[in-house]
Amino acid sequence: MSSAQQVRGRGRGVLRTKSVEQSIQDTEEPEHTLKKSLSALDLTVFGVGVVIGTGIFVLTGKIAKETAGPAVALSFVLAGAVCALAALCYAEFASTVPVAGSAYTFSYASLGELPAWIIGWDLVLELALGCAVVAVGWSGYIRSLLGTAGWHLPQSLSGTHEGRFGFDVLACLLVLALTAILVVGMKLSSRVTTVVVGVKVTVVLIVVIVGSFFITGANYHPFIPDSEPSHGAGGMAAPLSQLLFGFTPSDFGVMGIFAAAAVVFFAFIGFDIVATAAEETRNPQRDVPRGILGSLAICTVLYVAVSVVVTGMEKYSHLSTDAPLADAFKDLGHPFWAGLISFGAAVGLTSVCMILLLGQSRVFFAMSRDGLLPQVFSQVHPRFGTPYRSTVALGAVVAVVAGLTSIDELAELVNIGTLFAFVVVALGVIILRRVRPELPRAFRTPLVPLVPVLSVLASLWLMLNLPAETWLRFGIWMVVGFLVYFLYGRTHSRLGSRDRA
Ligand code: ALA
Repeated sequence: MSSAQQVRGRGRGVLRTKSVEQSIQDTEEPEHTLKKSLSALDLTVFGVGVVIGTGIFVLTGKIAKETAGPAVALSFVLAGAVCALAALCYAEFASTVPVAGSAYTFSYASLGELPAWIIGWDLVLELALGCAVVAVGWSGYIRSLLGTAGWHLPQSLSGTHEGRFGFDVLACLLVLALTAILVVGMKLSSRVTTVVVGVKVTVVLIVVIVGSFFITGANYHPFIPDSEPSHGAGGMAAPLSQLLFGFTPSDFGVMGIFAAAAVVFFAFIGFDIVATAAEETRNPQRDVPRGILGSLAICTVLYVAVSVVVTGMEKYSHLSTDAPLADAFKDLGHPFWAGLISFGAAVGLTSVCMILLLGQSRVFFAMSRDGLLPQVFSQVHPRFGTPYRSTVALGAVVAVVAGLTSIDELAELVNIGTLFAFVVVALGVIILRRVRPELPRAFRTPLVPLVPVLSVLASLWLMLNLPAETWLRFGIWMVVGFLVYFLYGRTHSRLGSRDRA
Protein backbone atom coordinates (compact mmCIF):
# COMPACT_ATOMS: atom_id res chain seq x y z
CA MET A 1 0.00 0.00 0.00
CA SER A 2 1.34 3.45 -0.87
CA SER A 3 1.83 5.96 1.94
CA ALA A 4 -0.81 8.27 0.41
CA GLN A 5 -3.33 5.42 0.61
CA GLN A 6 -2.36 4.71 4.19
CA VAL A 7 -3.00 8.30 5.17
CA ARG A 8 -6.41 8.16 3.49
CA GLY A 9 -7.40 4.96 5.26
CA ARG A 10 -8.51 1.62 3.87
CA GLY A 11 -11.67 -0.25 3.05
CA ARG A 12 -14.98 0.79 1.53
CA GLY A 13 -18.59 1.23 2.57
CA VAL A 14 -19.39 0.29 6.16
CA LEU A 15 -15.91 -1.19 6.59
CA ARG A 16 -14.06 1.98 5.53
CA THR A 17 -11.40 2.83 8.11
CA LYS A 18 -10.25 6.25 9.19
CA SER A 19 -6.46 6.37 9.07
CA VAL A 20 -4.53 7.15 12.23
CA GLU A 21 -3.04 10.21 10.49
CA GLN A 22 -6.52 11.42 9.55
CA SER A 23 -7.74 10.99 13.14
CA ILE A 24 -4.83 13.04 14.46
CA GLN A 25 -5.26 15.64 11.70
CA ASP A 26 -8.94 16.13 12.61
CA THR A 27 -7.99 17.04 16.16
CA GLU A 28 -5.88 19.88 14.80
CA GLU A 29 -8.80 21.72 13.15
CA PRO A 30 -9.17 24.90 15.27
CA GLU A 31 -12.92 24.59 15.95
CA HIS A 32 -12.45 20.98 17.07
CA THR A 33 -9.30 21.37 19.17
CA LEU A 34 -9.37 20.34 22.83
CA LYS A 35 -7.01 21.98 25.30
CA LYS A 36 -3.91 19.86 26.16
CA SER A 37 -3.47 20.27 29.88
CA LEU A 38 -3.18 16.83 31.55
CA SER A 39 -0.05 15.05 32.86
CA ALA A 40 0.60 11.37 33.78
CA LEU A 41 -0.24 12.16 37.40
CA ASP A 42 -3.52 13.84 36.40
CA LEU A 43 -4.38 10.75 34.38
CA THR A 44 -3.56 8.34 37.22
CA VAL A 45 -5.67 10.44 39.55
CA PHE A 46 -8.46 10.38 36.96
CA GLY A 47 -8.09 6.60 36.70
CA VAL A 48 -8.21 5.98 40.46
CA GLY A 49 -10.98 8.58 40.68
CA VAL A 50 -13.27 6.68 38.38
CA VAL A 51 -12.26 3.14 39.28
CA ILE A 52 -12.77 3.10 43.06
CA GLY A 53 -16.50 3.43 43.59
CA THR A 54 -19.72 1.47 43.87
CA GLY A 55 -17.87 -1.74 43.09
CA ILE A 56 -15.80 -1.79 46.24
CA PHE A 57 -18.07 0.32 48.46
CA VAL A 58 -21.30 -1.55 47.69
CA LEU A 59 -20.88 -4.72 45.61
CA THR A 60 -18.22 -6.38 47.80
CA GLY A 61 -20.72 -7.09 50.57
CA LYS A 62 -23.50 -8.31 48.32
CA ILE A 63 -21.25 -10.60 46.32
CA ALA A 64 -19.43 -12.05 49.35
CA LYS A 65 -22.76 -12.71 51.04
CA GLU A 66 -24.66 -14.16 48.09
CA THR A 67 -22.16 -15.56 45.57
CA ALA A 68 -18.58 -16.17 46.70
CA GLY A 69 -18.03 -15.88 50.50
CA PRO A 70 -14.53 -14.74 51.60
CA ALA A 71 -13.27 -16.03 48.23
CA VAL A 72 -14.57 -12.76 46.79
CA ALA A 73 -10.93 -11.66 47.17
CA LEU A 74 -10.06 -14.26 44.50
CA SER A 75 -12.84 -12.88 42.30
CA PHE A 76 -11.19 -9.46 42.53
CA VAL A 77 -7.86 -11.01 41.52
CA LEU A 78 -9.50 -12.72 38.52
CA ALA A 79 -11.35 -9.59 37.41
CA GLY A 80 -8.14 -7.56 37.89
CA ALA A 81 -6.19 -10.03 35.73
CA VAL A 82 -8.77 -9.74 32.94
CA CYS A 83 -8.47 -5.95 33.16
CA ALA A 84 -4.66 -6.07 33.16
CA LEU A 85 -4.69 -7.98 29.86
CA ALA A 86 -7.11 -5.45 28.42
CA ALA A 87 -5.09 -2.56 29.85
CA LEU A 88 -1.99 -3.72 27.96
CA CYS A 89 -4.01 -3.55 24.74
CA TYR A 90 -5.63 -0.19 25.58
CA ALA A 91 -2.22 1.26 26.39
CA GLU A 92 -0.78 0.36 22.99
CA PHE A 93 -3.79 1.73 21.19
CA ALA A 94 -3.95 4.92 23.21
CA SER A 95 -0.28 5.59 22.61
CA THR A 96 -0.67 5.00 18.86
CA VAL A 97 -3.95 6.87 18.38
CA PRO A 98 -3.89 9.69 20.97
CA VAL A 99 -7.30 11.02 20.02
CA ALA A 100 -10.49 11.51 22.07
CA GLY A 101 -12.93 8.62 21.86
CA SER A 102 -11.12 5.55 23.28
CA ALA A 103 -12.26 2.20 21.90
CA TYR A 104 -14.42 3.99 19.36
CA THR A 105 -11.47 5.80 17.78
CA PHE A 106 -9.28 2.71 17.95
CA SER A 107 -11.87 0.65 16.10
CA TYR A 108 -12.34 3.30 13.43
CA ALA A 109 -8.62 3.12 12.70
CA SER A 110 -8.43 -0.66 12.58
CA LEU A 111 -11.73 -2.42 12.03
CA GLY A 112 -13.84 0.03 10.03
CA GLU A 113 -16.75 2.39 10.40
CA LEU A 114 -19.54 -0.03 11.28
CA PRO A 115 -17.53 -1.83 14.01
CA ALA A 116 -16.50 1.61 15.31
CA TRP A 117 -20.10 2.73 15.46
CA ILE A 118 -21.08 -0.48 17.22
CA ILE A 119 -18.40 0.07 19.83
CA GLY A 120 -19.34 3.75 20.27
CA TRP A 121 -22.94 2.71 20.79
CA ASP A 122 -21.81 -0.03 23.16
CA LEU A 123 -19.74 2.45 25.18
CA VAL A 124 -22.96 4.27 26.09
CA LEU A 125 -23.71 1.24 28.26
CA GLU A 126 -20.40 1.55 30.07
CA LEU A 127 -20.22 5.30 30.42
CA ALA A 128 -23.65 6.91 30.43
CA LEU A 129 -25.45 4.00 32.06
CA GLY A 130 -22.53 3.46 34.45
CA CYS A 131 -22.73 7.11 35.47
CA ALA A 132 -26.45 6.79 36.16
CA VAL A 133 -25.92 3.63 38.23
CA VAL A 134 -23.20 5.23 40.36
CA ALA A 135 -25.30 8.39 40.84
CA VAL A 136 -28.08 6.23 42.23
CA GLY A 137 -25.59 4.49 44.57
CA TRP A 138 -24.34 7.90 45.71
CA SER A 139 -27.85 9.08 46.44
CA GLY A 140 -28.36 5.99 48.63
CA TYR A 141 -25.30 6.90 50.75
CA ILE A 142 -26.45 10.53 51.06
CA ARG A 143 -29.93 9.46 52.11
CA SER A 144 -28.40 7.18 54.70
CA LEU A 145 -26.23 10.03 56.06
CA LEU A 146 -29.26 12.36 56.04
CA GLY A 147 -31.24 9.67 57.82
CA THR A 148 -28.61 9.51 60.58
CA ALA A 149 -29.10 13.26 61.03
CA GLY A 150 -32.89 12.74 61.27
CA TRP A 151 -33.83 14.08 57.82
CA HIS A 152 -35.88 11.94 55.49
CA LEU A 153 -36.81 12.64 51.86
CA PRO A 154 -40.34 11.66 50.82
CA GLN A 155 -40.49 8.26 49.11
CA SER A 156 -41.61 9.88 45.84
CA LEU A 157 -38.25 11.71 45.64
CA SER A 158 -36.06 8.84 46.85
CA GLY A 159 -35.97 6.63 43.76
CA THR A 160 -37.66 3.34 42.95
CA HIS A 161 -37.52 0.72 45.71
CA GLU A 162 -39.14 -2.71 45.82
CA GLY A 163 -41.46 -1.95 42.94
CA ARG A 164 -42.63 1.42 44.37
CA PHE A 165 -41.82 4.17 41.89
CA GLY A 166 -40.06 7.34 43.00
CA PHE A 167 -37.92 9.92 41.18
CA ASP A 168 -34.37 9.95 42.55
CA VAL A 169 -33.95 13.69 42.88
CA LEU A 170 -30.49 13.55 44.52
CA ALA A 171 -29.01 11.38 41.77
CA CYS A 172 -30.47 13.72 39.15
CA LEU A 173 -29.08 16.85 40.86
CA LEU A 174 -25.63 15.28 41.22
CA VAL A 175 -25.41 14.62 37.49
CA LEU A 176 -26.51 18.18 36.65
CA ALA A 177 -23.95 19.71 39.02
CA LEU A 178 -21.15 17.58 37.57
CA THR A 179 -22.19 18.53 34.04
CA ALA A 180 -21.71 22.20 34.93
CA ILE A 181 -18.21 21.50 36.31
CA LEU A 182 -17.24 19.61 33.15
CA VAL A 183 -18.39 22.45 30.90
CA VAL A 184 -16.25 24.98 32.77
CA GLY A 185 -13.08 23.05 32.11
CA MET A 186 -10.81 20.07 32.40
CA LYS A 187 -8.35 21.74 34.71
CA LEU A 188 -11.03 22.67 37.22
CA SER A 189 -12.61 19.24 37.00
CA SER A 190 -9.21 17.65 37.40
CA ARG A 191 -8.58 19.73 40.56
CA VAL A 192 -11.94 18.77 42.04
CA THR A 193 -11.12 15.17 41.24
CA THR A 194 -7.74 15.34 42.95
CA VAL A 195 -9.35 16.37 46.25
CA VAL A 196 -12.10 13.79 45.96
CA VAL A 197 -9.67 11.01 45.09
CA GLY A 198 -7.56 11.93 48.12
CA VAL A 199 -10.58 11.53 50.42
CA LYS A 200 -11.58 8.26 48.80
CA VAL A 201 -8.17 6.61 48.94
CA THR A 202 -7.81 7.72 52.58
CA VAL A 203 -11.12 6.07 53.45
CA VAL A 204 -10.13 2.85 51.71
CA LEU A 205 -6.82 2.85 53.59
CA ILE A 206 -8.68 3.42 56.87
CA VAL A 207 -10.80 0.35 56.15
CA VAL A 208 -7.70 -1.73 55.46
CA ILE A 209 -5.49 -0.48 58.29
CA VAL A 210 -8.01 0.05 61.10
CA GLY A 211 -10.10 -2.92 59.98
CA SER A 212 -7.14 -5.29 60.12
CA PHE A 213 -7.11 -4.89 63.94
CA PHE A 214 -10.62 -6.39 64.07
CA ILE A 215 -10.04 -9.51 61.96
CA THR A 216 -11.14 -12.83 63.43
CA GLY A 217 -9.50 -15.86 61.79
CA ALA A 218 -12.65 -18.01 62.16
CA ASN A 219 -14.51 -15.76 59.73
CA TYR A 220 -12.34 -17.13 56.90
CA HIS A 221 -13.69 -20.68 57.39
CA PRO A 222 -14.85 -21.84 54.95
CA PHE A 223 -12.86 -19.61 52.59
CA ILE A 224 -14.67 -21.08 49.57
CA PRO A 225 -18.15 -22.05 50.87
CA ASP A 226 -19.67 -25.22 49.38
CA SER A 227 -21.70 -24.72 46.25
CA GLU A 228 -25.47 -24.54 46.85
CA PRO A 229 -28.51 -24.20 44.54
CA SER A 230 -29.08 -20.62 43.46
CA HIS A 231 -31.46 -18.50 45.60
CA GLY A 232 -32.18 -16.37 42.55
CA ALA A 233 -35.08 -16.86 40.19
CA GLY A 234 -32.95 -19.33 38.17
CA GLY A 235 -33.65 -19.44 34.42
CA MET A 236 -32.68 -16.19 32.77
CA ALA A 237 -31.15 -14.85 36.00
CA ALA A 238 -28.49 -17.62 36.03
CA PRO A 239 -25.07 -17.07 34.42
CA LEU A 240 -25.18 -17.93 30.72
CA SER A 241 -22.21 -20.30 31.18
CA GLN A 242 -24.17 -22.42 33.69
CA LEU A 243 -27.14 -22.64 31.34
CA LEU A 244 -24.99 -23.38 28.27
CA PHE A 245 -22.99 -26.15 29.96
CA GLY A 246 -26.08 -27.66 31.57
CA PHE A 247 -25.20 -26.97 35.24
CA THR A 248 -27.94 -26.43 37.80
CA PRO A 249 -27.73 -22.71 38.64
CA SER A 250 -25.73 -22.48 41.86
CA ASP A 251 -24.03 -20.00 44.20
CA PHE A 252 -20.65 -20.31 45.98
CA GLY A 253 -18.06 -23.00 45.20
CA VAL A 254 -15.61 -22.50 42.35
CA MET A 255 -18.37 -21.50 39.91
CA GLY A 256 -19.40 -18.85 42.41
CA ILE A 257 -15.93 -17.31 42.27
CA PHE A 258 -16.26 -16.88 38.50
CA ALA A 259 -19.81 -15.56 38.66
CA ALA A 260 -18.67 -13.12 41.36
CA ALA A 261 -15.71 -12.03 39.21
CA ALA A 262 -18.11 -11.11 36.39
CA VAL A 263 -20.02 -8.82 38.77
CA VAL A 264 -17.15 -7.29 40.79
CA PHE A 265 -15.59 -6.51 37.42
CA PHE A 266 -17.75 -3.39 37.78
CA ALA A 267 -15.27 -2.22 40.41
CA PHE A 268 -12.51 -1.98 37.78
CA ILE A 269 -14.47 -0.17 35.13
CA GLY A 270 -12.91 3.17 34.38
CA PHE A 271 -9.20 2.58 33.86
CA ASP A 272 -9.91 2.45 30.14
CA ILE A 273 -11.45 5.91 30.35
CA VAL A 274 -8.00 7.34 30.92
CA ALA A 275 -7.48 6.57 27.23
CA THR A 276 -10.41 8.82 26.30
CA ALA A 277 -8.49 11.81 27.67
CA ALA A 278 -5.47 11.10 25.43
CA GLU A 279 -6.10 14.12 23.25
CA GLU A 280 -6.08 16.44 26.25
CA THR A 281 -2.75 15.09 27.51
CA ARG A 282 0.50 17.01 27.08
CA ASN A 283 2.61 13.94 26.26
CA PRO A 284 0.13 11.18 25.39
CA GLN A 285 2.68 8.67 24.05
CA ARG A 286 4.41 8.48 27.41
CA ASP A 287 1.72 9.46 29.89
CA VAL A 288 -1.38 7.57 28.77
CA PRO A 289 0.09 4.07 29.25
CA ARG A 290 1.49 5.17 32.61
CA GLY A 291 -1.89 6.53 33.67
CA ILE A 292 -3.79 3.39 32.63
CA LEU A 293 -1.47 0.76 34.09
CA GLY A 294 -0.71 2.80 37.22
CA SER A 295 -4.32 3.34 38.23
CA LEU A 296 -5.19 -0.30 37.56
CA ALA A 297 -2.32 -1.58 39.72
CA ILE A 298 -3.20 0.70 42.65
CA CYS A 299 -6.86 -0.31 42.57
CA THR A 300 -6.24 -4.05 42.36
CA VAL A 301 -4.05 -4.00 45.45
CA LEU A 302 -6.59 -1.92 47.39
CA TYR A 303 -9.56 -4.13 46.41
CA VAL A 304 -7.94 -7.37 47.40
CA ALA A 305 -6.86 -5.82 50.71
CA VAL A 306 -10.34 -4.41 51.43
CA SER A 307 -12.14 -7.64 50.63
CA VAL A 308 -9.75 -9.71 52.73
CA VAL A 309 -10.14 -7.33 55.68
CA VAL A 310 -13.92 -6.96 55.50
CA THR A 311 -14.63 -10.69 55.21
CA GLY A 312 -12.23 -11.17 58.14
CA MET A 313 -14.03 -8.58 60.28
CA GLU A 314 -17.48 -10.08 59.86
CA LYS A 315 -18.81 -13.48 58.79
CA TYR A 316 -19.62 -13.20 55.06
CA SER A 317 -23.20 -14.27 55.65
CA HIS A 318 -23.72 -11.28 57.98
CA LEU A 319 -22.27 -8.58 55.71
CA SER A 320 -24.57 -5.73 54.79
CA THR A 321 -25.51 -5.32 51.14
CA ASP A 322 -26.02 -1.53 51.16
CA ALA A 323 -22.94 -0.18 52.88
CA PRO A 324 -20.82 -3.24 53.78
CA LEU A 325 -17.59 -1.40 54.65
CA ALA A 326 -19.20 1.09 57.00
CA ASP A 327 -21.63 -1.44 58.47
CA ALA A 328 -18.88 -3.91 59.34
CA PHE A 329 -17.44 -1.24 61.67
CA LYS A 330 -20.91 -0.35 62.99
CA ASP A 331 -21.67 -4.01 63.76
CA LEU A 332 -18.42 -4.31 65.72
CA GLY A 333 -19.40 -1.23 67.79
CA HIS A 334 -17.35 1.50 66.07
CA PRO A 335 -19.88 4.07 64.79
CA PHE A 336 -17.24 6.80 64.45
CA TRP A 337 -15.28 4.88 61.82
CA ALA A 338 -18.54 3.81 60.17
CA GLY A 339 -19.68 7.45 59.80
CA LEU A 340 -16.32 8.53 58.43
CA ILE A 341 -16.37 5.71 55.86
CA SER A 342 -19.92 6.53 54.76
CA PHE A 343 -18.98 10.17 54.33
CA GLY A 344 -15.85 9.27 52.33
CA ALA A 345 -17.81 6.86 50.14
CA ALA A 346 -20.39 9.54 49.35
CA VAL A 347 -17.65 12.01 48.43
CA GLY A 348 -15.74 9.34 46.48
CA LEU A 349 -18.66 8.31 44.30
CA THR A 350 -18.98 11.86 42.92
CA SER A 351 -15.66 11.58 41.07
CA VAL A 352 -16.67 8.22 39.58
CA CYS A 353 -19.81 9.78 38.19
CA MET A 354 -17.98 12.79 36.87
CA ILE A 355 -15.32 10.87 35.00
CA LEU A 356 -17.80 8.42 33.49
CA LEU A 357 -19.71 11.43 32.20
CA LEU A 358 -16.48 13.00 30.95
CA GLY A 359 -15.59 9.82 29.06
CA GLN A 360 -19.05 9.60 27.53
CA SER A 361 -19.03 13.22 26.38
CA ARG A 362 -15.62 12.70 24.70
CA VAL A 363 -16.79 9.55 22.87
CA PHE A 364 -19.96 11.38 21.81
CA PHE A 365 -17.78 14.32 20.71
CA ALA A 366 -15.55 12.07 18.59
CA MET A 367 -18.55 10.35 16.97
CA SER A 368 -20.12 13.68 16.17
CA ARG A 369 -16.86 15.05 14.75
CA ASP A 370 -16.88 12.06 12.40
CA GLY A 371 -20.46 12.81 11.34
CA LEU A 372 -21.93 9.59 12.78
CA LEU A 373 -23.93 11.78 15.18
CA PRO A 374 -25.14 15.31 14.40
CA GLN A 375 -22.11 17.62 13.99
CA VAL A 376 -23.60 20.27 16.23
CA PHE A 377 -22.32 18.26 19.23
CA SER A 378 -18.65 18.57 18.29
CA GLN A 379 -18.33 22.35 18.64
CA VAL A 380 -15.78 23.30 21.28
CA HIS A 381 -16.58 26.18 23.66
CA PRO A 382 -14.67 29.31 22.53
CA ARG A 383 -13.53 30.19 26.03
CA PHE A 384 -13.45 26.97 28.04
CA GLY A 385 -12.08 24.74 25.25
CA THR A 386 -14.45 21.90 26.21
CA PRO A 387 -17.01 20.06 24.05
CA TYR A 388 -19.85 21.80 25.87
CA ARG A 389 -22.75 20.82 23.64
CA SER A 390 -22.15 17.09 23.88
CA THR A 391 -21.51 17.49 27.62
CA VAL A 392 -24.75 19.39 28.27
CA ALA A 393 -26.88 17.14 26.07
CA LEU A 394 -25.54 14.00 27.71
CA GLY A 395 -25.67 15.43 31.21
CA ALA A 396 -29.37 16.19 30.75
CA VAL A 397 -30.19 12.69 29.49
CA VAL A 398 -28.10 10.90 32.12
CA ALA A 399 -29.65 13.07 34.87
CA VAL A 400 -33.13 11.92 33.84
CA VAL A 401 -32.06 8.28 33.53
CA ALA A 402 -30.41 8.48 36.97
CA GLY A 403 -33.64 9.87 38.38
CA LEU A 404 -35.66 6.99 36.97
CA THR A 405 -33.21 4.06 37.33
CA SER A 406 -32.66 1.43 40.01
CA ILE A 407 -29.14 -0.04 40.38
CA ASP A 408 -29.44 -3.80 40.40
CA GLU A 409 -29.40 -5.42 37.01
CA LEU A 410 -28.12 -2.32 35.27
CA ALA A 411 -24.64 -2.83 36.74
CA GLU A 412 -24.47 -6.17 34.91
CA LEU A 413 -25.48 -4.47 31.66
CA VAL A 414 -22.67 -1.96 32.20
CA ASN A 415 -20.25 -4.89 32.65
CA ILE A 416 -21.24 -6.73 29.49
CA GLY A 417 -20.94 -3.52 27.47
CA THR A 418 -17.46 -2.84 28.81
CA LEU A 419 -16.23 -6.40 28.31
CA PHE A 420 -17.44 -6.30 24.73
CA ALA A 421 -15.37 -3.14 24.20
CA PHE A 422 -12.32 -4.97 25.62
CA VAL A 423 -12.78 -7.75 23.08
CA VAL A 424 -12.92 -5.30 20.19
CA VAL A 425 -9.88 -3.33 21.37
CA ALA A 426 -7.76 -6.49 21.74
CA LEU A 427 -8.71 -7.60 18.22
CA GLY A 428 -7.93 -4.09 17.01
CA VAL A 429 -4.36 -4.29 18.36
CA ILE A 430 -3.69 -7.43 16.35
CA ILE A 431 -5.24 -5.97 13.20
CA LEU A 432 -3.45 -2.62 13.44
CA ARG A 433 -0.08 -4.37 13.91
CA ARG A 434 -0.74 -6.28 10.67
CA VAL A 435 -2.03 -3.42 8.52
CA ARG A 436 0.09 -0.55 9.92
CA PRO A 437 3.23 -2.19 11.34
CA GLU A 438 5.29 0.97 10.75
CA LEU A 439 3.25 3.32 12.99
CA PRO A 440 5.21 4.70 15.95
CA ARG A 441 4.03 2.95 19.11
CA ALA A 442 5.34 4.51 22.30
CA PHE A 443 3.90 1.58 24.23
CA ARG A 444 3.86 -1.89 22.68
CA THR A 445 1.66 -4.64 24.08
CA PRO A 446 4.02 -7.53 24.97
CA LEU A 447 3.80 -10.92 23.24
CA VAL A 448 1.39 -9.99 20.45
CA PRO A 449 -0.75 -11.85 19.43
CA LEU A 450 -0.70 -13.97 22.62
CA VAL A 451 -1.68 -11.22 25.08
CA PRO A 452 -4.51 -9.78 22.93
CA VAL A 453 -5.84 -13.29 22.25
CA LEU A 454 -5.79 -14.09 25.98
CA SER A 455 -7.51 -10.77 26.61
CA VAL A 456 -10.30 -11.68 24.17
CA LEU A 457 -10.76 -15.12 25.73
CA ALA A 458 -10.69 -13.82 29.30
CA SER A 459 -13.21 -11.06 28.55
CA LEU A 460 -15.51 -13.52 26.76
CA TRP A 461 -15.28 -15.88 29.72
CA LEU A 462 -16.39 -13.17 32.15
CA MET A 463 -19.20 -12.20 29.75
CA LEU A 464 -20.40 -15.82 29.75
CA ASN A 465 -20.57 -15.68 33.54
CA LEU A 466 -23.13 -12.87 33.39
CA PRO A 467 -26.85 -13.70 33.57
CA ALA A 468 -28.67 -14.77 30.42
CA GLU A 469 -31.12 -11.85 30.82
CA THR A 470 -28.18 -9.42 30.66
CA TRP A 471 -27.23 -10.93 27.30
CA LEU A 472 -30.77 -10.42 26.08
CA ARG A 473 -30.83 -6.74 27.06
CA PHE A 474 -27.41 -6.28 25.50
CA GLY A 475 -28.64 -7.83 22.23
CA ILE A 476 -31.65 -5.51 22.10
CA TRP A 477 -29.48 -2.43 22.69
CA MET A 478 -27.12 -3.43 19.89
CA VAL A 479 -29.97 -4.06 17.41
CA VAL A 480 -31.23 -0.51 18.11
CA GLY A 481 -27.67 0.72 17.44
CA PHE A 482 -27.61 -0.97 14.03
CA LEU A 483 -30.86 0.73 13.09
CA VAL A 484 -29.54 4.17 14.08
CA TYR A 485 -26.37 3.65 12.03
CA PHE A 486 -28.17 2.58 8.89
CA LEU A 487 -30.78 5.33 9.20
CA TYR A 488 -28.36 8.17 10.07
CA GLY A 489 -24.61 7.56 10.48
CA ARG A 490 -23.92 5.73 7.24
CA THR A 491 -25.15 8.60 5.08
CA HIS A 492 -23.82 11.45 7.25
CA SER A 493 -20.33 10.02 7.88
CA ARG A 494 -17.60 12.58 7.14
CA LEU A 495 -15.30 9.82 5.99
CA GLY A 496 -18.04 8.62 3.63
CA SER A 497 -18.41 12.12 2.11
CA ARG A 498 -14.64 12.43 1.76
CA ASP A 499 -14.62 9.10 -0.11
CA ARG A 500 -17.45 10.25 -2.36
CA ALA A 501 -15.71 13.58 -3.04
N1 ALA B 1 -15.47 1.17 38.89
C1 ALA B 1 -16.51 2.09 39.17
C2 ALA B 1 -17.20 1.75 40.43
O1 ALA B 1 -16.83 0.81 41.10
C3 ALA B 1 -17.45 2.23 38.04
O2 ALA B 1 -18.13 2.40 40.80
